[in-house]
Amino acid sequence: MSLPDLALPFVKKLSPETAHVATVNGLKLGIGLPRIAPDSWQTPVELPKSRLNLANPVGLAAGFDKNAEVHRPMARFGFGFLECGTVTPRPQPGNPKPRLFRLTEDDAVINRMGFNNHGLDYFVRRLRRTPPQPDCPVGANVGANKTSEDFVADYERGIAAVFPHCAYITINISSPNTPGLRGLQGKDALQALLERCGNAYSDLQKPSGEQKPVFLKIAPDLDDTQLADVVETVRGAGHWLSGLIISNTTLDRPLNLNSEHASESGGLSGAPLFEKSTRVLKEIASELFGEFDLIGCGGVSSGAEAYTKIRAGAHAVQLYSALVYHGPGLVAKINAELADLLRADGFSSVSEAVGADLPSRA
Ligand SMILES: Cc1cc2nc3c(=O)[nH]c(=O)nc-3n(C[C@H](O)[C@H](O)[C@H](O)COP(=O)(O)O)c2cc1C
Repeated sequence: MSLPDLALPFVKKLSPETAHVATVNGLKLGIGLPRIAPDSWQTPVELPKSRLNLANPVGLAAGFDKNAEVHRPMARFGFGFLECGTVTPRPQPGNPKPRLFRLTEDDAVINRMGFNNHGLDYFVRRLRRTPPQPDCPVGANVGANKTSEDFVADYERGIAAVFPHCAYITINISSPNTPGLRGLQGKDALQALLERCGNAYSDLQKPSGEQKPVFLKIAPDLDDTQLADVVETVRGAGHWLSGLIISNTTLDRPLNLNSEHASESGGLSGAPLFEKSTRVLKEIASELFGEFDLIGCGGVSSGAEAYTKIRAGAHAVQLYSALVYHGPGLVAKINAELADLLRADGFSSVSEAVGADLPSRA
């Protein structure tokens, strides 16, 4: 067991944000880290459109390492890939505290952090100074400043700044804590965003010829019409967009939540998000499977849940909230469980199982 796992009971006694800061600071010092090779479970997977080769399909979701400070220590817990950010062009403090809540009885978290981060210059400096481990690709998740007059210009700036320093880029238009941001998922706004970001991408890509996978991260709170619009719009975006991450946190509050913080405002993540985010993943996969790589995110805390998302059409999964309750040792457990489930169902690779539950693949 690693020190961060052993320290978990004590860390949980701290307020959630203090616990997070203490964890990140401990990771920066690198004390008591395990040495789990990400390929321990023999579950490699290739994301075909992005051409990302992962040692295993379990990734760290955005929001844990907002400033790209601890991706190297986090890689040692056995993640197949990591996503840093969300980073905005200018540093910003985020919303007033408290803004992070544990919903312990529900295995859930509510956050209204509001993209607190040190800005692009710091983020890029960190990635330059501490390059990611070659066996654990690091993605950069870019967003917009709260007070920006042109959100799309912020994404263009973000893409240009992180392009040379990361394995993939995520355009995050789905955080609920920046007023107006989710509006970018509407048909016309999304079309305009993708057109401008696509042009920015081409300008960067042409001189070197280097391809950089780009993902769009969407919310789970989209109705059928909005989902159909997203499908149609990303199809029209062109080949520079390689995939979607489904999903960010939800604004929904299921009626069966039991925790005292259930009515705090912000985005809900963890166990109560699993079903909804998986349903949206499945709906998107039924349209876009084979055209785009899909990454499933929301409520993953076991190998069985990772496997469900993979069978629903995800080549890889990401998690964050489960770490709050189970510590980083969970990553090894999920991978071991996933390997067993694949074997039990007669799959010889992760790729064989991807989309197994989609009617088109049955
Ligand atoms: C405290 C916290 C901060 C987050 N910050 C970000 C962020 O900056 N950018 C982003 O794209 N998603 C962010 N997320 C959302 C996660 O990346 C993920 O999409 C969501 O939590 C669902 O996964 P989970 O149920 O495994 O936590 C954050 C989530 C939490 C709990």
